[in-house]
Amino acid sequence: MAESRPKVWVSQPLYEDLEARLEQWFDVTRTAQVTDHAPAAIAAALADADGALVTLNDRIGAAEIAGAPRLRAVANVGVGYNNLDVAALAARGIVATNTPGVLTETTADFGFALMMAAARRITEAEHWLRDGRWQGWGFHQMLGAEIHGSTLGILGMGRIGQGIARRARGFGMRVLYHNRSRLPDAVERDCAATWVARESLLAESDHLVLVLPYTAANHHVIDAVALARMKPGATLTNIARGGLVDEGALADALQAGRLAAAGLDVFEGEPAVDPRLTACRNVVLTPHIASASLPTRRAMVSLAVDNLVAAMGQGPDAGRPSD
Ligand code: DGY
Repeated sequence: MAESRPKVWVSQPLYEDLEARLEQWFDVTRTAQVTDHAPAAIAAALADADGALVTLNDRIGAAEIAGAPRLRAVANVGVGYNNLDVAALAARGIVATNTPGVLTETTADFGFALMMAAARRITEAEHWLRDGRWQGWGFHQMLGAEIHGSTLGILGMGRIGQGIARRARGFGMRVLYHNRSRLPDAVERDCAATWVARESLLAESDHLVLVLPYTAANHHVIDAVALARMKPGATLTNIARGGLVDEGALADALQAGRLAAAGLDVFEGEPAVDPRLTACRNVVLTPHIASASLPTRRAMVSLAVDNLVAAMGQGPDAGRPSD
């Protein structure tokens, strides 16, 4: 009797040619609907799966894991993995993987662009023009915050943060960063970035960009207190996860003009956006697209496929002794 192959669930249609690599080793089932990320649908799909290729829309929590007795590996297509309960996965010995590295430059490009769009009021000005309110060139119209010569603060100096710092060099910005630990001197030199305490980062940055992973410990790391410590007239850009920011407090700071502007690509209740934010004219809102370019999305899927094959002990190198 032919040995049955492990079952792998792909949580939404991605790229057929890349997913086809999974079919060499696994029986693959796919969820046809891009939008079907309901907990019941996820639980049903995982019930007899040995492995899963999922995206950040798919919450794999303790209940889903408990209902998946055969599950051995979960490959997340994304660098952030707060959609996975990693403690519950680890407790069961289930391997979890993510896709760092392949989206760094695309995401850094976007983070820098979003920061600039917020500072220079690009979408606000466009709306104003489209609304037919432009009556001619005006000396005092749409004055924005400077980019060149200003101080960029980066909270979370991983690969993407470093990519943003390297871009800032070309704009003549002074770059400060805060991480729990300092980067090696050579990396700091390469990024022309200086480590400072969190309080100094808040107080000195003209433009603060959040690029840190979201965990329970840094939930609302930018809350009303942190916002009050930011430099008056500064901008805040978030391309990491919405839960890092207390959105109500941010809306208050934007409405009061304490912060000049914000650029937000991520939201706490995605895809819902807090109406207090949409009511602010001085915030650029984008639908979680920082890594959204075709080559990058393909690279993410390709890496996640490789990760899953390896984590499930398959692939050309399976069983070979390692060096
Ligand atoms: C990630 O990878 O975590 C992004 O948020 C989506 O690309």
